[in-house]
Amino acid sequence: MSNGLLGIEKLDRAEIEAYLNRAKFFQTHGEGQFKKLDTLRGKTLVNLFFENSTRTRTSFEIAAKRLGADTISISSSGSSVSKGESLVDTLNTLAAMRPHAIVMRHAASGAPHFLARHLSMPIINAGDGMHEHPTQALLDALTILDHRPMLEGLRVAIIGDIIHSRVARSNIYLLSKFGAEVVLCGPAPMLPPELAKLAPGVTITHDIREAIGGAHVIMMLRVQLERQHETPFPTGDYFRFHGLRLEHLSLAQPDAIVMHPGPINRGREISSEVADSRHSVILNQVENGVAIRMAVLEKVMGA
Ligand code: NCD
Repeated sequence: MSNGLLGIEKLDRAEIEAYLNRAKFFQTHGEGQFKKLDTLRGKTLVNLFFENSTRTRTSFEIAAKRLGADTISISSSGSSVSKGESLVDTLNTLAAMRPHAIVMRHAASGAPHFLARHLSMPIINAGDGMHEHPTQALLDALTILDHRPMLEGLRVAIIGDIIHSRVARSNIYLLSKFGAEVVLCGPAPMLPPELAKLAPGVTITHDIREAIGGAHVIMMLRVQLERQHETPFPTGDYFRFHGLRLEHLSLAQPDAIVMHPGPINRGREISSEVADSRHSVILNQVENGVAIRMAVLEKVMGA
């Protein structure tokens, strides 16, 4: 059974705080001229990506290398998955090479949990379908804490395609454990009312102005067209009703921060003016992703 990181839902506050505190150390370590550590020397990490990724895959690789580990990255398009090999056969093949941990992204919710039940090495979930993306929620929390002393009492608006978003789910679990108020906002087809039951302190609105009112944190999400199989959503009006524009920011707290896990679609869910404004911490999120993944890899792969 794996003791990796599959999701935020089952973690307690102390486990989350341990990751955040260790990541705070890595944030400042080296002051920009990063010195490689040898914590994971002699260990091998396999990055297995069955879905596209820029930020997540690269930052797991950089994090592993900064800790001295060897990394191998495999994507479905460049592997035998595209030759029809089943998931189980691919996984058994990789496991036979005895890596010390596997990072996995997959379009099916629960895929890393399945892997963890069958393999003995730790598995880290880098995004499973519409379910969870735990390292994203951790790096988001770290980014918020760069601007605020604590999560408790903050009003966080998460806006966009909530139903299809593993980023939203992991953030909802984490923020709610720490006593933040989470308001979810999106068009009705992307925000069914039962999502308010995911965690305590979660409310729902379809009105972007109401969601942003008084918010300390505005978290924008991409419309996940790749997951809209049944009822394709008309994207034409999306920006008009749910896109974040400069005029909205006056409704939020004066020093509100604007977040986005990326990739951003300028002019669809967020205007360029907002993405490039002083409120935007989108690139800080990317930077913090390395520190968080170092903390996770050290915990999971270390002695
Ligand atoms: C997100 C993902 O893949 O879940 N991106 C990321 O990991 N930074 C969000 C998205 O794809 O929109």
